[in-house]
Amino acid sequence: MGERWCAAVLRVLVLQALAWALAGGQVRYSVAEEAKAGTVVGRLAQDLGLEAGEAEARRLRLVAPGRRASVEVSGASGALLVSSRLDREELCGKSAPCALRLEVLLERPLRVFHVQLEVTDINDNAPVFPAARKNLSIAEWTTLPGSRFPLEGASDADIGVNAQLSYTLSPSEHFSLDLQKTNERNIEPELVLTKALDRETIPVHRLVLTASDGGRPSLTGTMELLISVLDTNDNAPQFNQSVYKVQLPESAAVGTLVMRVNATDVDEGINSEVTYAVTNFIPPTGRDVISINPNTGEIHLTAALDFEEVSIFAGVQALRESGLLSMSA
Ligand SMILES: *[C@@H]1O[C@H](CO)[C@@H](O)[C@H](O)[C@H]1NC(C)=O
Ligand SMILES: *[C@@H]1O[C@H](CO)[C@@H](O)[C@H](O)[C@H]1NC(C)=O
Ligand SMILES: *[C@@H]1O[C@H](CO)[C@@H](O)[C@H](O)[C@H]1NC(C)=O
Repeated sequence: MGERWCAAVLRVLVLQALAWALAGGQVRYSVAEEAKAGTVVGRLAQDLGLEAGEAEARRLRLVAPGRRASVEVSGASGALLVSSRLDREELCGKSAPCALRLEVLLERPLRVFHVQLEVTDINDNAPVFPAARKNLSIAEWTTLPGSRFPLEGASDADIGVNAQLSYTLSPSEHFSLDLQKTNERNIEPELVLTKALDRETIPVHRLVLTASDGGRPSLTGTMELLISVLDTNDNAPQFNQSVYKVQLPESAAVGTLVMRVNATDVDEGINSEVTYAVTNFIPPTGRDVISINPNTGEIHLTAALDFEEVSIFAGVQALRESGLLSMSA
């Protein structure tokens, strides 16, 4: 019993060796991924040395064609055909070459052949960025030209030249792109500030980073860069008038609203908050006559007007909260 089994195995092995010898080793074919169903991959029967009609008579077929084989042997012609979608990326991912091993069976007498099928890449995948949009915040003025901001590169599911990426940035007066080659295959794009930013001129910069692969035709993917410019305290408050004049009757009561001054600051947040102070009274006794509300800029009379003093000149100062910059009127 055991001997008979052994003999059977031996016979198969001998037959296989014979088949190899006949076929001159392994039969190799290659087919481009995404080839249409029915595409002839190779004239299998002929390449295995079969006579016309033999393929059908001896039932030339694939052994247990796997779920992923996607090829079949045509009964009539004995040709290997594409039977369903062949997606190289699904079959082999990033590994290359993408070679499928197929076993082909022939009956009477029994023979097994190995066929290697290489699925070649076509440029069927575009570069993809990890996100469609990236937000960056960069401080105006204090961020110096030459500052670099690393960006995440795109990936391309294809292989070889079809996955070789190059990058371009939409035209910008303030930014350029620098490509850092981390290794043979990988390039990391970096945004470089070429000119200092001014939030008051352009508060938000919108750029588009494009990745193109090396396929023909090339496919592209894009990522939008949204750059918010952060405020620094770079603007002084501005009065809406350089001179404020008011005439009051001598009889004006204490507490009368003399006038209201107004300064605004184009910076943002606390950098735009303005407080007021009065300085430089001429004559100095003016200090006792008027006072300013530091928050509203309202100037009130705090004493009765002296008949003798014809006029009071007062310098009004608008101070930024931070106290770094001031403007006088
Ligand atoms: C980026 O900023 C925009 C606008 O402020 C916002 O709508 C979006 O959610 C932000 N995206 C991310 C990823 O933070
Ligand atoms: C000051 O002027 C600005 C801009 O003209 C205005 O928005 C604001 O209301 C004014 N403030 C006062 C206290 O009048
Ligand atoms: C300046 O601001 C003050 C206070 O808000 C207002 O009364 C005055 O009319 C403004 N002057 C001008 C030229 O807008």
